[in-house]
Amino acid sequence: MNKVTVVGAGKYGSMTALRIAEYDIVQEVVMTDIVEGLPQGLALDINQSRFVEQFNTKLIGTNDYKDTEGSDVVVITAGLPRKPGMSRMDLLEVNAKIVEGVTEEILKYSDNPSIIVVTNPLDQMTTLASDVSGLPKNKVMGQAGILDSSRFAYFIAEKLSVDTSDVYALTLGSHGETMVPVPSLCTVKGEPLTDILSESDINELVEKTSNGGAEIVGLLKTGSAYFAPASSAAVMVKSIVNNSDEIFPVCAWLEGQYGIDDVYLGVPAKLGKNGVTEVVEFELTEPEKNALIDASNAVKAKVEELNNIKNQ
Ligand code: LAC
Repeated sequence: MNKVTVVGAGKYGSMTALRIAEYDIVQEVVMTDIVEGLPQGLALDINQSRFVEQFNTKLIGTNDYKDTEGSDVVVITAGLPRKPGMSRMDLLEVNAKIVEGVTEEILKYSDNPSIIVVTNPLDQMTTLASDVSGLPKNKVMGQAGILDSSRFAYFIAEKLSVDTSDVYALTLGSHGETMVPVPSLCTVKGEPLTDILSESDINELVEKTSNGGAEIVGLLKTGSAYFAPASSAAVMVKSIVNNSDEIFPVCAWLEGQYGIDDVYLGVPAKLGKNGVTEVVEFELTEPEKNALIDASNAVKAKVEELNNIKNQ
């Protein structure tokens, strides 16, 4: 694989492009945006850091989808971010139009790319990109679980004054109100989190995690988080490009796994050259399994709402 496209040269998009470029695993990262000059300027700036940072991946900034031709992986970041007080779901209608248009443009120039969606509301936008693209379901996925897990890991590490590298944290479900933290599989220095913290302490950290993005939106006033989100998207690209089949929490298509069908939802999945190469079924507790089923129903209801909007 030698070409990755990032759609959207906002903060999330440009930071994702930079992180991928710094891995030095592909020849080109194309960054496209509708704003003239923006992707070109940012690409020039990043290219001018190559000598210092010692990476050879070339950034190409463009307003023309033709330059995305033959992309192996495409990350869709285009769309509006939240404003303070907004939920991700408030972006449904406006971002649906953007994601639909972007997906159509991408498919004009790349036959079989893996598509990673990060635009909110995440689970619905991933479903939409999949429908519009007509690609096999395993080629389209969304980024959210890595970000939520990373936020959870950070809050656990802070609470216990340990390094984040000592923590394993996992969240599944949707990127929103029905996020499903999985404390039964979280560990600190190999010990189960549930043996270290009380249920109320864990609940407090879960609350902070699901509010993690909104807290940043509130502080920034304009725009939303992008450092941790970009890291999370870039690491998915790396696993696909390197065909390393690493397991991450990913918004992936379910066909019976976890007893759930026909919905894009955050679950553990292997990422390799064909996109989602396997949805992995971890052992969950009954409450965690039920929470995942509730999350799937909430996503399905919102997908239906989106379909109704489209059919109006
Ligand atoms: C967040 C956005 C990017 O959670 O969804 O910060």
